[in-house]
Amino acid sequence: MLEAGWTGTSTVPSRGLYPHQWSWDSAFIAIGLRHVSPLRAQTELETLLAAQWADGRIPHIVFNPSVPLDAYFPSPDFWRSSAAGRAAGAPRTVQTSGIVQPPVHALAAWLVHLADPGLSRARGFLTRAYPRLAAWHRYLLHRRDLGGGGLVSVVHPWEQGMDNSPCWDRPLSRVTPAPARSFRRADLDHGSPEDRPTDLDYGRYVRLATDYRDRGYADGPGDFAVEDPAFNALLIASEYALARIARELGAAAPARQHRAERLTDALVERLWEPSAGMFLCRDVRAGELIPERCVSGLVPLLLPDLPRDLAATLVRTVCGPHFGLGGTTRLVPSYDLLGDAFDPHRYWRGPAWFNTNWLLERGLRLHGERGRADALRRGILHTAGASDFAEYVDPYTGQACGATGFGWTAALTLDLLHDRPAWDKDGVTAIKGEVRG
Ligand code: SER
Repeated sequence: MLEAGWTGTSTVPSRGLYPHQWSWDSAFIAIGLRHVSPLRAQTELETLLAAQWADGRIPHIVFNPSVPLDAYFPSPDFWRSSAAGRAAGAPRTVQTSGIVQPPVHALAAWLVHLADPGLSRARGFLTRAYPRLAAWHRYLLHRRDLGGGGLVSVVHPWEQGMDNSPCWDRPLSRVTPAPARSFRRADLDHGSPEDRPTDLDYGRYVRLATDYRDRGYADGPGDFAVEDPAFNALLIASEYALARIARELGAAAPARQHRAERLTDALVERLWEPSAGMFLCRDVRAGELIPERCVSGLVPLLLPDLPRDLAATLVRTVCGPHFGLGGTTRLVPSYDLLGDAFDPHRYWRGPAWFNTNWLLERGLRLHGERGRADALRRGILHTAGASDFAEYVDPYTGQACGATGFGWTAALTLDLLHDRPAWDKDGVTAIKGEVRG
């Protein structure tokens, strides 16, 4: 799968459905690839970083010029990055989208480095990656604090990565959809319509992206701005990783470490909802939390400095009736099993995804829940193989949905298979062990 998806410089998530390079897919893919080819894993991240904009943003798609324009929508002629993104510093030689995806990259770069530190040092991998990763985080923290509380906002559901999560229904309802006849979806050529977002949601995605493009990709008040717990938790995990990278390069890192701790405090202050026993998304325009339980609200379990009682509550929530781990479900669903909008097959409205389950497995292990982490690891490995490495699965039955032979499913399976003691040293695990030291 990873072989078949390799283009020579990066890996496509799926030859049919996603035939270009995707930002957070590449980061997860590099985390798995490092076990079979540290060089390819480094190249994967370097290709993505080479498409960074001068303002620091890492685009969510880097387009492969040899793929026909109609193979994926929205294509380069929709985003028009080198023209519409000129003021924001879009590269001229490569075409990209203008939005971003969750910042898993510094975490991935650090883990890739650890797979073969000799090769990494010989190639100057971290020396070259560090300034770009630091600029990426600066962009997010300075240009995207739209709520003014220190957290990053996403301005499009595709940025958070969980495209049609029920969390977006309320803020998206304020967006006037682009007319259906003004664009042609390519995703339905490859995926079943029941597994994909609706046309109405697509119309809204197109409207938001068009408006952002027509503003020259300048950040500021727009129709959609949401502070998401997973996006921000991944930024924090990557801040710890950047601190480790800085130390490896001989630079002082206490400021980064401190920033990760401060961001954790802001996350708790702005997004923790005690009555739900988890984090929720904040609708910045409406100034309120969105009352939907989505898997993104469990992802902060990944954070080493999460207050102990919150971590214990998150574990109870993931194992309770809303997510069913260790009970009714095989893998943690993307959305509340008891929620009105739950659908076990439709993109991010209920199915289980392998990247979020991998993150939760790491989080459970980090917080000393070894038995639960081991069981989830077994569930991921079994379901990935049995579903032919599906993009996502029915959380109850494990039935494959979306594409099969999916890049990050294969890569994260590889990572779990190569699970090394370093993830578990001295009872201090995963992110804390590898990222924080
Ligand atoms: N996930 C989106 C898609 O399905 C955008 O990256 O195309």
